[in-house]
Amino acid sequence: MRVITYGTFDLFHEGHRRLLERAKALGDHLIVGVTTENYDNSRGKLNVSQSLMERIRNVQDSGLADEIIIEEYEGQKIRDIQKYGIDIFAIGSDWLGEFDYLKDYCEVVYLERTKGVSSTQLRDQNAGVIRLGVIGSGRIAARFVAEARYVSGVDVRTVFSQHYARAQAFAERFELQHAAQTRDDLFGAVDAVYIASPHGTHYEHTAAALDAGIHVLCEKPMTLSRAQTEELFTRAREREVVLLEAVKTAFAPAFQRMVEVARSGSIGQIRSVDATFTKLVTGGRELESPDGGSISELATYPLLAVVKLLGTDYTTIRTQSLRPEDSEVELFSRIDISYPGAIASARTGLGVKAEGELIVAGTLGYVHVPAPWWLTEYFETRFENPAQNRKYYNTFDGDGLRYELAEFTQMIRGKNLESFKLRAAESLAIADIIERARAGAEFFG
Ligand code: CTP
Repeated sequence: MRVITYGTFDLFHEGHRRLLERAKALGDHLIVGVTTENYDNSRGKLNVSQSLMERIRNVQDSGLADEIIIEEYEGQKIRDIQKYGIDIFAIGSDWLGEFDYLKDYCEVVYLERTKGVSSTQLRDQNAGVIRLGVIGSGRIAARFVAEARYVSGVDVRTVFSQHYARAQAFAERFELQHAAQTRDDLFGAVDAVYIASPHGTHYEHTAAALDAGIHVLCEKPMTLSRAQTEELFTRAREREVVLLEAVKTAFAPAFQRMVEVARSGSIGQIRSVDATFTKLVTGGRELESPDGGSISELATYPLLAVVKLLGTDYTTIRTQSLRPEDSEVELFSRIDISYPGAIASARTGLGVKAEGELIVAGTLGYVHVPAPWWLTEYFETRFENPAQNRKYYNTFDGDGLRYELAEFTQMIRGKNLESFKLRAAESLAIADIIERARAGAEFFG
C-alpha cells in the first residue's frame, strides 16, 4: 500500500512526527509532499519561517518518509496520486472533509490532530508577537487593521488619532485593547507602528517613532521631499530599527514577478515604461493645497513601476500639470523621466478617469499589465508574432495590504533593515522625483 501526505512542516514538531508515524503505518511506502514558499504564499500562509530546504530536511531527519516530493500548486494532489500510484491519502483532522474530492482517486484518511502544538504557535513563541500601533484612524487605517488579521504574529493593540474620540471609536470597531490618549502612550505600548495619518504629518510621526526605537511602516508618500525621506532612513539606520514605506504594490506577488520577467531579457532591453493611476474624488484633503494634488496623492505607484523597471539613475524630469482655474491643486499630470537608453512616463489624475494600465516596451516585445495594474494578479508578455505571447497569473489576496505587513514583520524578525522589494534608495528616488515634479511642473489651466 502506497500512502501520501502533505504539509508545510515548518519548525518540525511532535504533531508532525506523530502524523507521519501514523501515515506510514497505514501502508508500506510513505511519500511526503512539502509545500513551496510560493504555494504557501498563494494560499495565504505568509509567515512560514524556515526555507523549503530546511523543511525538507526536517521531514528527512524524521526518518519516516520513504520519498519526499515538492508541492507547488493547487490541484497537484490529483496528479501526484495518479502519477505515484497512491492507495491512501492521509492528512490531519484539521482538514476534515476538505479533501473528500480525492476519494475519486484513492482512499482518504483523516488522522486525529495532536492537540496543543502547531507551527503557528511555535513561530509566535520563538519570535514573540509583534505589538503594533496605528497612527491615524481614517479609511486606509481601517483597511489595514482588517487585513492585519491575515498576518500571523502581529497584534494590533492600539490607535492614536489627532482626535481622541475618533481613536476610541476606531479601537471599539476593531476590538483593539485601547485607544491612546497621546502619541507617547502609543509608543509605550508597542514595538512597531503603522502611520496612516495625513501626508503632511508623516515626517514628524515617523521621526518621533524612530527616536523612540519603534519600527515604522509609513503610508506612502512617506514625505514629499527627498531630504526628509533621506533623513528618516538615516535615523532608522542609526537606531537600528526598520523603516519601510507602505507602497502596497511593491510587495504584491504578481508585481514582483512582472518586474523579474521584464528585467530578465524576455522582452529584450527595456526602452519605455508607461504607467497611469487615476482616481475619482469629489472633495476632501486630496484636493486641498499645500499637500494635495494628483502627484503627491498618486504618483508613488507609477513611479514605483518606473524605478523597479529602470532603476534610480534617471537623468531628467519634465512635468506637465493641469490645474483648472477653480482648483487649488493640479488634477492631472504627466511626469516624463529619461534614463540612458530609456524613457518613462507616469500619469496621475484626480477627478479624471483613464485606463490604469502599465506598459513596458522592450526591443523584442512588451509587457502589458491591465488596469488596475497596481492591484494586479495577471499580466502578459506580447510579441510581434502573437504565437509567442504568454500570460502570467499570480495571487493578490484581499486588499493587498497583508503583503506589506508580512514583509514588515519579517524584516523586524530577521533584523533586516532593508527589503529588496522596496529599497531605501528606491523610496528616496520616488520622493526625489515627486519633489522635483511638483516644484518644476509646467502648469496649464
Ligand atoms: N498536524 C497534526 N497535529 C498538529 C499539527 C499538524 O497532526 N498539532 C498535521 C496537519 O494536520 C498536517 C501535517 O501535520 O496533516 C502538516 O501540517 P502543517 O500545516 O505543516 O503544520 P501546522 O503545525 O498545522 O502548521 P500551521 O500552524 O502553519 O498551520
